Amino acid sequence: MAFQLSRIMRPDDANVAGNVHGGTILKMIEEAGAIISTRHCNSQNGERCVAALARVERTDFLSPMCIGEVAHVSAEITYTSKHSVEVQVNVLSENILTGAKKLTNKATLWYVPLSLKNVDKVLEVPPVVYSRQEQEEEGRKRYEAQKLERMETKWRNGDIVQPVLNPEPNTVSYSQSSLIHLVGPSDCTLHGFVHGGVTMKLMDEVAGIVAARHCKTNIVTASVDAINFHDKIRKGFVITISGRMTFTSNKSMEIEVLVDADHVVDSSQKRYRAASAFFTYVSLSPEGRSLPVPQLVPETEDEKKRFEEGKGRYLQMKAKRQGHAEPQP
Ligand code: COA
Repeated sequence: MAFQLSRIMRPDDANVAGNVHGGTILKMIEEAGAIISTRHCNSQNGERCVAALARVERTDFLSPMCIGEVAHVSAEITYTSKHSVEVQVNVLSENILTGAKKLTNKATLWYVPLSLKNVDKVLEVPPVVYSRQEQEEEGRKRYEAQKLERMETKWRNGDIVQPVLNPEPNTVSYSQSSLIHLVGPSDCTLHGFVHGGVTMKLMDEVAGIVAARHCKTNIVTASVDAINFHDKIRKGFVITISGRMTFTSNKSMEIEVLVDADHVVDSSQKRYRAASAFFTYVSLSPEGRSLPVPQLVPETEDEKKRFEEGKGRYLQMKAKRQGHAEPQP
């Protein structure tokens, strides 16, 4: 079962240089994933449900998409566990003047069906039919790997971003930024909870502001690390999305984004961490070439620790990319 959506890219989908925002692409990916997984989870008679986004695996932005191009987003269910659905999504950009098509993104998303009657009830997923037996085995391996990775990243949830007065340029405090958003009906699913794509778009917006404040040039999203959506965000809640730079390499910037939700009126409900992720940005010249970035100056012990952790992630991903690029002996 496959699903495809196409949409022309408009000026409000892009930055001033005409590049479509990473967040816009993430939102389209999530829309396609939510449709195919909700359709699949309701394909057998039984309790009706909406599939909620639980996780997005690391995704790279492989080539830029521009205003006037058409985004073709295709989604396919590639694995089902008892309570979750894995969806693979590919994004192609089409230049409708020349017909040229480029692969922009490949993403893997995990959805969990939640009952329409009781949003806290996770339903069982109808098993998908595999065309080859190996597909099920490979899917199970990916499922087990992400489960393990989720347990290891739980520690990040307690951290908060504090404002600092009169920060020096190139420090973490100088570029750290926050965005506060009231969750309205157009942000929400049939349950009245925020769509994962809406949250990712806002996260990308904050990360982009941090990157631009740091290097003061046009910037683009290069990749997003795996994102786990720990908790639902209800209509009427206020979300605070905070971003801070954690690491710079010669030409890239890593930004950590934290999403916290709270009920503004009911003070008995505590503020909670709904999601967190690392975005990597690249600085671009007016001609669209990647530029060296000012080096981040970590000041506190925590900032220095986060810088070293960011460097570890950077070196690991670089080694992986080079491993893919070079032919295996
Ligand atoms: N990534 C992938 N799968 C996940 C997951 C994650 N981050 N968290 C839970 N799951 C899967 C589990 O593996 C399980 O499937 P399995 O039984 O086949 O292994 C299934 O979800 C249910 O797990 P369970 O432990 O019963 O539920 P939970 O209490 O962990 O709740 C969610 C899971 C997804 C319902 C909950 O974390 C949630 O509500 N998240 C927010 C969803 C949302 O609102 N998304 C949009 C955010 S803006």
